[in-house]
Amino acid sequence: MILEILIALILTIVLGVILYGRWNYGILESMGVPVVKPSLFLGSIPDLHKKVIHEQDIEFFKKYGPIYGVYEGREPFLYICDADLVKQVQVAEFDHFRDRRRIDLGDAYFNEMMDFLEYEKWKVIRHQLMPALSPAKYKRQKQSLDECLDRFVANLSKLCGSTKRANIDLRKEAITFNVDFTAIHLYGTNVSNPEDENNFLRKGASEIMGEAEEFNFLYPLSMSFPILTKLAPSLKSDSIDKWKELITFLMTERKKSKDPPVGDFLDSLIMLLNKVDTPEFKSLKITDVTVYAQAIVIFLGGYDTFATAIVFLAYFLAKAPKIQLKLLQEVDAYFTKHETVEYETTSELPFMSACIMETLRLIPAFRISERINPDNFDDPEEFKPERFLPENMGNMKPYASAIFGNGPRNCAGQRFAVDFLKIVAARLFKDFRFEISPDTEIKFKTGRMFMVQYHPIYFDLIKRH
Ligand code: HEM
Repeated sequence: MILEILIALILTIVLGVILYGRWNYGILESMGVPVVKPSLFLGSIPDLHKKVIHEQDIEFFKKYGPIYGVYEGREPFLYICDADLVKQVQVAEFDHFRDRRRIDLGDAYFNEMMDFLEYEKWKVIRHQLMPALSPAKYKRQKQSLDECLDRFVANLSKLCGSTKRANIDLRKEAITFNVDFTAIHLYGTNVSNPEDENNFLRKGASEIMGEAEEFNFLYPLSMSFPILTKLAPSLKSDSIDKWKELITFLMTERKKSKDPPVGDFLDSLIMLLNKVDTPEFKSLKITDVTVYAQAIVIFLGGYDTFATAIVFLAYFLAKAPKIQLKLLQEVDAYFTKHETVEYETTSELPFMSACIMETLRLIPAFRISERINPDNFDDPEEFKPERFLPENMGNMKPYASAIFGNGPRNCAGQRFAVDFLKIVAARLFKDFRFEISPDTEIKFKTGRMFMVQYHPIYFDLIKRH
């Protein structure tokens, strides 16, 4: 009898679990769009751990067309690769699509990141922080940027040694440079050891991005059973407390300073923190956790995105020597007129800009699918920077490639990111060029739902002079 009760209990639990995992099945089908057939209870991609998700997106697009549905675990998602519909959703009808996906990342700080905040709260936070991210603010840091760039170039030269050539993992060097400059740019402080992989900013960002993490089966399971998220947080880091301590220390020091506020990112954080006890912030549940979360997320916003863009820009150019030569000629012409790269004159590097945009289209930091729609781009999977030249941009469909998203909730760092990439790349290609080497191999990591991630890529760095 006891055995029978036990079996009945187990069967009921199993049935309940399956029913829960399948609860939303049918929603997408009822919308009349093609749907990637879901599995018993793990959604449409039960073997997520084996899949390079941004490549899977391309396969789905080819099979199902520009609008299709996918169950990510138990959650139904519509994928839209049609430029007109993208515009309608992200811009024209924004009032109906004001929130990003609601998601429990399993951590109090990460759940408060700007990207995932509900509209009313997001609006206040974004409005307060945007001025600090405007190009006018970072122009003040020109000297620091030049110093960081000098260190970046010196490191690379050292690697090249007397042979003027080295087989390198450019990402590692790009991250050292990025941590070096971002700490100054956002927090107004110098990091003494940006090259040390145990530096807690660097280690923290790497942990949060799950760079070293092997696939955890609890992660796809938590998409069907969100209760498991606490056991397998999507984003996590043991360095958060240290990070928070640093921000607190820097804010305290800044408050002691007799200088007037400069309106940089740190000043904006102080301003936000000063308001957490106001009725407005209390009613919106904006707390000190919300403020510290932004301090971290803006740092993260540029961490992986920048490194990925620089690595793949170098990779695509190494693969296409003629295109690289054209770029080097533009860079050399620029430096006959200017000693250093100035924000005001980056428009004199249109081919560089086109190469960067094409790189970001092909290897987006985040998953975006419309970029490979042949209705939007000829030979969509080919590296063809010319399409982003000013004279050809008129032929490009607006909203064809949401590299930085569109509409009010687009990338908060877009203007900074584009200028910054141009400046860094110009300085890099002034002194170096890249070649594919026998061991150059692109291997993307599997099971990454948000960011495009890859194993170290080695190619040859050659000193030009
Ligand atoms: C190559 C560099 C970058 C790329 C490709 C990129 C791309 C994106 C994309 C696609 C989104 C999502 C937009 C949406 O949901 O529609 C986003 C959001 C965001 N990005 Fe970037 N990003 C880059 C650099 C940066 C930098 C340098 C920062 C910080 C200074 C930054 C801060 C943010 C923030 C805060 C959001 C959330 C915006 C919001 O929810 O209002 N990003 N980014």
